[in-house]
Amino acid sequence: MARKIRLGFIGTGGIAKNAHMTSLKNIEDIELVAVSDINRETAQAASDMFEGKPKVYTDYKEMLKNEKLDAVDVCTPNLYHKQPSIDALNAGLHVIVEKPIAMSAKEAQAMCQAARKNERKLMVAQCQRFRPDVQLLKKMIDAGELGDIYYSRVWALRRRGVPAWGVFIEKDKQGGGPMIDIGVHMLDMALYLMGHPKPVAVSGQCYTKFGTRKGVFNPWGEWDPKKYTVEDYAAGFVRFDNGATLSIEASFAANIKKDELNVTLLGTEGGSDMDPFRIYKERHQRIIVEEPTMLPQVNTYEAELREFFAAIRENRDPLVTGEQALMTQQILDGVYESSQKGKEILIK
Ligand SMILES: NC(=O)c1ccc[n+]([C@@H]2O[C@H](COP(=O)([O-])OP(=O)(O)OC[C@H]3O[C@@H](n4cnc5c(N)ncnc54)[C@H](O)[C@@H]3O)[C@@H](O)[C@H]2O)c1
Repeated sequence: MARKIRLGFIGTGGIAKNAHMTSLKNIEDIELVAVSDINRETAQAASDMFEGKPKVYTDYKEMLKNEKLDAVDVCTPNLYHKQPSIDALNAGLHVIVEKPIAMSAKEAQAMCQAARKNERKLMVAQCQRFRPDVQLLKKMIDAGELGDIYYSRVWALRRRGVPAWGVFIEKDKQGGGPMIDIGVHMLDMALYLMGHPKPVAVSGQCYTKFGTRKGVFNPWGEWDPKKYTVEDYAAGFVRFDNGATLSIEASFAANIKKDELNVTLLGTEGGSDMDPFRIYKERHQRIIVEEPTMLPQVNTYEAELREFFAAIRENRDPLVTGEQALMTQQILDGVYESSQKGKEILIK
């Protein structure tokens, strides 16, 4: 049997503990050697989850220097995705980093370059791609069953769902609000299903209509309106080099009917929705709605980690590459820049 992959963590907060580490317990042939977080208690609590008690660091650079690791899992706030990832890649390690890849396309570009230069894997944890419905639809699309996909409608809308914890409302630490935080999940899904056409132009508009107000109803708790520097609603429109287009909306708070996350695809031979998962087709001059059933249950966090380790062992690209995430980030940047400048932004 091949030797175990020696893994370290950078950032051991919510997603690291509740999703990645709980999933790791199901994965064989991996040794969690060390964990690092600027908060020692948080890192210690993460270490305590494992019998082998991985070593605790408060400075990830010390961890990279002292431990013989093969790979790291970066689960820090967005502002701290780039440098720890680049430092790990330069230390010869493979990297899986939480979504979004970074704060900007410029940062994402630097990460991709470091991965190429060091010939290491850089995967982004876009867990939604691993959903069985998404995987089934991808197979159908690749088999030509939807024909040419010319339009996608993407939305990640929360009626009242402002994350009151962490740094999700601070632009300088996250790069933006709902568009970069939850819009990215559905955007990645749409781009994957569309086969990653190259984005060439983006326009968008962001609004902050709730975040800076006091006393807004929010089931996830109160936040400090003075700290709120991101949008609470954003809309964008993207043009691709193959003539396809995409519209996207994302919100932390909006006066809408209900929370919704969805991707709609329009193809010449069929259309689809993800929630609920349906395929729409014409047969014998009648419209047919197909509803796949008995799909397996998949822990998407475990699936993404397994894919990362398999890509390392098999020395191949992982399902979610840094380059794909860079394109996604160009679109996110485009929405923010367009909103700021009041015009369409061209992507070179
Ligand atoms: N895939 C998903 O569904 C999903 C869900 C939630 C969050 N996320 C992503 O995961 C990342 C972290 O989010 P979270 O909810 O776990 O946040 P969190 O605030 O719970 O955890 C972040 C942790 O990083 C630590 N940290 C901050 N700066 C650091 C540094 N320089 N070095 C080491 N540790 C540092 C903090 O102390 C904290 O423990 C974000 O990028 C977010 O977008 C993804």
